[in-house]
Amino acid sequence: MTQTASLSKRNIISMNGLKAEDIKVILDTAVSLKEISTRTIKKVPTLRGRTIINLFFEPSTRTRTSFEIAGKRLSADVINISGTGSSTAKGESLIDTARNLNAMNPDILVVRHNCSGAPALISQFVDCPVINAGDGTHEHPSQSLLDLLTIREHKGSLEGLKVTIVGDIAHSRVARSNILAMQTMGMKVKVVGPPTLIPVEIERLGVEVCYDLGQGINDADVIMILRIQLERQNQGLLSSLREYSNYFCLTEKHLSKAKKDTLIIHPGPVNRGIEIALDVMEGPRSVILDQVTNGVAIRMALFYLLLGESDADTN
Ligand code: CP
Repeated sequence: MTQTASLSKRNIISMNGLKAEDIKVILDTAVSLKEISTRTIKKVPTLRGRTIINLFFEPSTRTRTSFEIAGKRLSADVINISGTGSSTAKGESLIDTARNLNAMNPDILVVRHNCSGAPALISQFVDCPVINAGDGTHEHPSQSLLDLLTIREHKGSLEGLKVTIVGDIAHSRVARSNILAMQTMGMKVKVVGPPTLIPVEIERLGVEVCYDLGQGINDADVIMILRIQLERQNQGLLSSLREYSNYFCLTEKHLSKAKKDTLIIHPGPVNRGIEIALDVMEGPRSVILDQVTNGVAIRMALFYLLLGESDADTN
């Protein structure tokens, strides 16, 4: 594969400002690179000699592992640093951490942090591109890209599709990145959840708001279920998980009134039986594990497009 396109942005911090053409290039590149993960020897020399640092200050299974696998499949040297394993645990500031890592000449920094804005801050103190792997309640751009790839794979195209996002919209970085990305790609977005979990004036982002799950999904081509963030249960936003589940857990009964070919996606991790019923999660319309597979391809594409050389060899 020869690189023929590059991105209009150097850092992937937000989906805001990524043009439809950028997103299409990322998805198309991911499609080309996805095949590498099906080989017996899952490695190409494209990024040999390049150094990727994964700096994760929050727990992660899918994102951290897939960024690591993506780098290794492209032959980059990948270094993983956790918050507890770094000197921030001894009081070093985030800015000093960034400056010190930069002094070791990495080629990309991948950052997850519980504070919104941390990856953007770090990007001001390093010479290499920064990819936001999820920051606070702000954004999770690579998640929205893998969601778009999964939807496009199953639906053929994105433009005009109706997507309903269900759950804790207010605290969801996945929802925020997807609302931006989906609208850029000409999709129509509806959000569904209890009023306490839907930001006031979210309509100004161009989305429709609905407080009833059945009504909210009846015309959806795609239903994205969000994780109820159990860590927020002491904030008084929900009277109880059981009540949330009574009104907003996606069940087969709801789906019987939805489009027959509606897709079910969820970024994970899943609270089984709280936001999604077990039989729906494991049913024929669920493509949750396809999302995970596509997460590797999307992250390979981001590394490739941000670092790849014009004569990059993926054979
Ligand atoms: N979707 C997602 O960000 O999952 P992890 O927290 O496991 O990375």
